Amino acid sequence: MTSSLTFIAHSIAAAGTALLLGAAAMPSFQQDPAAASAPREIAVVASRFAFEPARIEVTEGEHIRLLVSSADGVHGVGIKKFKVEKTVPRGGTQVAVDFVASAVGEFPILCSEYCGKGHDEMTGMLVVSARK
Ligand code: CUA
Repeated sequence: MTSSLTFIAHSIAAAGTALLLGAAAMPSFQQDPAAASAPREIAVVASRFAFEPARIEVTEGEHIRLLVSSADGVHGVGIKKFKVEKTVPRGGTQVAVDFVASAVGEFPILCSEYCGKGHDEMTGMLVVSARK
């Protein structure tokens, strides 16, 4: 009885190890090398009525992760071109916004939550330059 239980325990442990090894040995499928690489993190602070930094410069193909927090009330961050649209809560919690800068150009960063009379002027600019 004891020996069969031990055998079962060993079998389970062996199966677990095999699963772990299997997962580690699995090939990773990377259609888009830029998207698969670790994102470049950029901290952005939203406040009435500006983004800081107001101008964010990246390179075409980069995987970007904006970590947006608010210094006062609720704001939003929107970059239409890259289908970015996130609410930034009051209280300073960072909101992660992930996207691949897949197009070259200058794209406005807009506040997507009404936050007061300067809301419409609360803009930033994402500048994506061509890969060299
Ligand atoms: Cu900030 Cu609207």
